[in-house]
Amino acid sequence: MAAHTDPIPFDAAFAQDLHARYAELREAGPVHRLVNESGLPVWVVTRYDEARALLADPRLGKDAQTIFRLVMDRFAPGAERPEADDGRFAGAGFDLHMLNMDPPDHTRLRKLVVKAFTARRIEDLRPRIEEITEELLSAMAHQDEVDFLDAFAFPLPIRVICELLGVDESRRDDFRRWTNRLLDDIDTEASVRAAGEMAQYLTELLATKRAHPGDDLLTALIEVSEDEDRLSEAELISMVFLLLVAGHETTVNLIGNGVLALLTHPEQFARLRADPDLVDAAVEEMLRFDGPLMHSTFRFTTEPITIGGTDIPAGEFVWASLAAADHDSRRFPDGDAFDITRDTRGHLAFGHGIHFCLGAPLARMEAQVALRGLLAHFPGLELATAPEDLTRRNSSLIHGLRSLPVRPSAS
Ligand code: HEM
Repeated sequence: MAAHTDPIPFDAAFAQDLHARYAELREAGPVHRLVNESGLPVWVVTRYDEARALLADPRLGKDAQTIFRLVMDRFAPGAERPEADDGRFAGAGFDLHMLNMDPPDHTRLRKLVVKAFTARRIEDLRPRIEEITEELLSAMAHQDEVDFLDAFAFPLPIRVICELLGVDESRRDDFRRWTNRLLDDIDTEASVRAAGEMAQYLTELLATKRAHPGDDLLTALIEVSEDEDRLSEAELISMVFLLLVAGHETTVNLIGNGVLALLTHPEQFARLRADPDLVDAAVEEMLRFDGPLMHSTFRFTTEPITIGGTDIPAGEFVWASLAAADHDSRRFPDGDAFDITRDTRGHLAFGHGIHFCLGAPLARMEAQVALRGLLAHFPGLELATAPEDLTRRNSSLIHGLRSLPVRPSAS
């Protein structure tokens, strides 16, 4: 049960061959040491039980200030420390959100957003999600070949999240560019610039919503923060930033990876066509089999801990590998197989514990509506390239394809 202690590079080749590489590591042991694309060493937990326990372990912290300090200690020991809200770390002060916080701040922010992000508000979006789905799928109908990501998987979630928040649709392309930069080019100049542009836009947007309240989540968040006087302007901007980023790229790649799974498993696709009542189950299996987040976000050890027999000192970064854990056959028999009828309960694609994904009901609804629409419009949908020619994005967070060429109306 040897943990790899010489860090293994988590690079483009690893991302491309994700499940096979993680299968090897998972079988070798529950904990390994990797080094991410920025050169940061991180302990990775690959087995289900250990990963699930890690996600709920209060000895792991997430607060941005400590993460910042640990990163600086590693890359620039002794250097002057900029204040976290001056825009030099985590981009333009967007780090004051709940995914970067521990209790009690996390509890306070999560409670506030839950009040505004209600089940009814999400359910009310269903007709719009169906309309947008119809519009996008109809536009694909007359094309021999399209990139499914460009034509469908990208535009759907960004339009839904803009709708939810009350963001002007004309800024959709900007949002796609900003979130792409922020997730793929972590810590580079381009990502800092993107964060700056986004911060400026969000500040303007909040001012507009204050002057002209709408029936949207942003207005609701402003009202909650004003009523209770417990959400600062910086926290509000960070919250909106989190909702936009967390709600966009993830859903895009759930739909993209999920459709790829169907197209490369024709017997499963046929089964779904024969019984569209399996759509909800198919979405859960897509989340488990090839979800959009390969790892949890960073956590750090606040004290020395032992995971699966491996001692990890205090002040080290740890990831739960959601991708590896969800393929662990100890929990999901024949874990590498895609089977839309299996029992997927307990998958970790949305995380676990206090940071469990707030947007899970919305993401599920979007993917289910998308899949139903796709089955109705394009039952003969086909890949327009060999699966081995598809390439993955080079990110240690988002597990997604660069493009997904399909023939919509093949028969
Ligand atoms: C947190 C996955 C869509 C908002 C998380 C976490 C995961 C996740 C794994 C926890 C990360 C960790 O513990 O390190 C996903 C997946 C999605 C998705 C797979 C789509 C398929 C969305 C959507 C929204 C959203 C649509 C909002 C509109 C959030 C928020 C958090 C979060 C606000 C932080 C919760 C907290 O810290 O308490 N998500 N997400 N997500 N997600 Fe999602």
